[in-house]
Formats: sequence, C-alpha cells, structure tokens
Amino acid sequence: MDDLDAPSGQIYRWALTEIRLFFSNNSSRVSVQEIYVSFKLNTERRGKEGMASSSAASGDGDREETVSLKKKKKDGLGWIEWLRGLLSVVYEVLFQRIMASHLQNPMPLPPLPDITSCIVTGSTSGIGREIARQLAESGAHVIMAVRNPKAAHELIQKWQEEWSGMGLPLNIEVMEVDLLSLDSVVKFAEAWNARSAPLHALINNAGIFSIGEPQRFSKDGYEAHMQVNHLAPALLSILLLPSLIRGSPSRIVNVNSIMHHLGFVDTEDMNFVSKKRRYTSTSGYSSSKLAQVMFSSILHKRLPAEAGISVLCVSPGIVQTGVTRDLPKIVDAAYQLVPYFIFNAQEGSRSALFAATDPQVPEYCEMLKADEWPVCAFISQDCRPTNASEEAHNVETSQKVWEKTLEMIGLPSDAVERLIQGEQVECRYGMADQQ
Ligand SMILES: NC(=O)c1ccc[n+]([C@@H]2O[C@H](COP(=O)([O-])OP(=O)(O)OC[C@H]3O[C@@H](n4cnc5c(N)ncnc54)[C@H](OP(=O)(O)O)[C@@H]3O)[C@@H](O)[C@H]2O)c1
Repeated sequence: MDDLDAPSGQIYRWALTEIRLFFSNNSSRVSVQEIYVSFKLNTERRGKEGMASSSAASGDGDREETVSLKKKKKDGLGWIEWLRGLLSVVYEVLFQRIMASHLQNPMPLPPLPDITSCIVTGSTSGIGREIARQLAESGAHVIMAVRNPKAAHELIQKWQEEWSGMGLPLNIEVMEVDLLSLDSVVKFAEAWNARSAPLHALINNAGIFSIGEPQRFSKDGYEAHMQVNHLAPALLSILLLPSLIRGSPSRIVNVNSIMHHLGFVDTEDMNFVSKKRRYTSTSGYSSSKLAQVMFSSILHKRLPAEAGISVLCVSPGIVQTGVTRDLPKIVDAAYQLVPYFIFNAQEGSRSALFAATDPQVPEYCEMLKADEWPVCAFISQDCRPTNASEEAHNVETSQKVWEKTLEMIGLPSDAVERLIQGEQVECRYGMADQQ
C-alpha cells in the first residue's frame, strides 16, 4: 500500500493509525502518568504521519502545483477531509464507551481547596450542571454563569439538601450572563474582575446546537451558533485574563466537540451570509466549534508561560442532554433507544472535569507550547489527550480566525498583551451602561 497518492491510500493510512491508537489506548488500564507519556507519543506520531501523508498525497512531481493550490483560497473541506471528519464522529459514537471503559463514573476528583474559584457557563442543565455540582462537592467555590438565575438557585437548593451531612455546605453562587449578548458578557466579566479575586478555572461549557432550525442571529448581528459557542466564550476568556493571572496556575477549558472535525471556517464569512456555502445547523455548529479550537490555539500560543494559564478544548463525547431537545421527536426517540452508545451527563462531564483539575494538565500544555505545537491541548471524551482535526492545524487560518474574532468581539488586536502587562483594554461592547 505504498501508493499514497490515491485518496484510498490516505484513508487506509488514517484507518490504520486509528485502529493502532484504539488498541494502544485500550490495551490496559493505564495511570494518568502513562496516558500523559503515550499521549505525547501518539500526538507526535499522528502529527508526523499527517504531515507525511499530505506531502505524499501531493506527490513530488506535483509539488509546485500544490504550492500554488495552497495559496489559492480554500472555500470548504475537501471530500476526503469531510469523510475523515464524518468517520471520526461515527467512531466516537460507536466506541466512546469502550474507549472510556477505564474511567470511573462519577470520576473521582482531587480535593480542591475552598479558595479554588471556578466559573462554569451554562450550568443549569446537561454537562455543565454535572461539572458545577461535582466541582462544588470537591470543595471548590463554583460560580454558575447562567442565563436563567432562578433555575440555578433552585438547583443549588436541591444540591445543598442532598449534600447535607456530607461535609461543609457547598460553596456555589449564581451570576447572570446571556451569551447571545456581548454586552452581557462584558458586564459579567467586569462584575467578576471588580472583586479583584483570583480565578482558577473558566469552563466555557454553554453551547447551542439548534438542530434543523433556520439560521438565527444574535442582537449583535452574529450567527447564533458562532456567537454562543465561539465569540462570547472568546470574549469572556480574554476579559477574565486579569483574574486568571491572579489565580495562576489557572485554566481555560472549552467544552468543544468531535463535530469540529466537520467544520470549516471562512474568515470572510463567519456569519454564513454570503451564500457561498449553504447554511445548515450542522455546518453552523461544527464551524463554531472549529473556530473555538483555532482561536484557543492562538490564545495558548500568545499567553507567555509566566502567565501560568493553560488553554484546553475537550470533547465530552456524544451525550444525552438538553442539546437533543430540538430534535424531531423520532430522532429523539432513537437517542433514547441507544443508551449503550450514548453517555449520560455525568459521563459527559468527565473530560472537562479532568481538564479543569488534573495536576498534570498545566505541564502538558507547557510541553505543547515549548514544542510549538500548532494546536492547543485537546482532551478526548476518555480523558486522554488527542489530536484536533486536520483543519485545526491550519496555522494561517487560525491566525485569521484570531484576528477576525477580536474584531467581531470589539477588542484591539493587542488586547492579550496589554492585559498581561496590567493595562486596561476597552471593548466596543458593554459601553451602554457606562454612558
Ligand atoms: N450533548 C452532546 O452530545 C455534546 C457533544 C459535544 C459537545 N457538546 C457541548 O457540550 C456543551 C454543553 O451542552 P449540553 O449537551 O450539556 O447541552 P444543554 O443541556 O442544552 O446545555 C447547554 C447549556 O448552555 C446554556 N446556554 C445556551 N444558550 C445560552 C446563552 N445564550 N447564554 C447562556 N447560557 C446558554 C443552556 O442554558 P439553559 O439551561 O438556560 O438553556 C444550558 O445550560 C455545549 O458546548 C455543547 O456544544 C455536547
């Protein structure tokens, strides 16, 4: 199978790598320490193979042509990339339970000192609710950043009752934020930063997948998936940098998705309005998740090691949550019929909890930075480091996504550097209240 020019050769190589990784990952019940080492090897091997396969696929004679093609603007995923993305999603659906069979549920967390502050967005339902509850039960101070404070207060009351007699009362509070409004995000960040308190973990969990619905826009004028899943968390992450520096070593954990493998970001059309690409809820969702990985990769690179902030994306797996509430009844019913394959919310919370609390994570993120790896850390649903999609490795597009995102969320291009220097940064949003 030396003829790797052919698309089938690439698929074959990819399939072999996946099968090898699958068996190497599942051959034993390994410790986190071992995962860390094998993960580095896997990441390096996959990176090298990815590079080798793309250069082999182009063929020596075609090199010049490839260079000129690369210069040509890409306007979507190629069919091989798309097929690989689809296979990654199917693979996760079919094998996530086997891949994660070494994990306990609930996943035991290290005890967290009560000074550990964790903001969890979208914590009134699904994966976020589990993340918030488990962090609080481990001793952390949890801030539920939600758009429905009443629902959050009711949950806290329920959790306190269930927890009573098990230790000190849970240390949880509620703060309101609506990610469909960038003004609301700025207001939230200002309220938290005004405390001059350290922040140890920001968990950008809130997200939408409006399956089958027509295209919607926020009041800021942005496509709804792009705003809730990428733009608003990006703004929150940057505005909270001063608090994260105070809490250093600290972490930004983005609850991403395997679906980013199907995404493509056109930086000239982040809103899907040009009609060059047909909008579907799946393309809106997967592109927003890919944009988040790309933005996070540049943020990870721009934050100096001394800032002590780790940036990660995680895949929770395929999880039965409110995310299916908009599905047609028949598809929702099918979801209920396949409980073996689909995680419950507690299982789906494990990768984010791992990323937020595992002591080896900062070291791993530093290693990626030192190696100048093009993508930030990506933790799979089985709590093992994995590689993000091929498109996520496109450094040039990631840089454009970074620039375009800053422009869209109303921040100057040197916002990160200035915040790290302790300077104030003005955002175009959130000004109404100050006038
Ligand atoms: N479930 C899966 O299979 C799956 C797979 C991959 C990735 N994910 C990701 O996991 C994350 C959590 O999703 P989930 O499955 O737990 O779904 P979910 O049960 O629907 O939870 C989503 C949370 O986000 C909040 N939210 C939505 N729009 C918001 C807004 N404008 N402002 C503030 N909060 C908002 C929701 O608040 P309300 O409670 O007020 O509606 C809810 O708490 C998402 O980022 C999702 O993309 C899920």
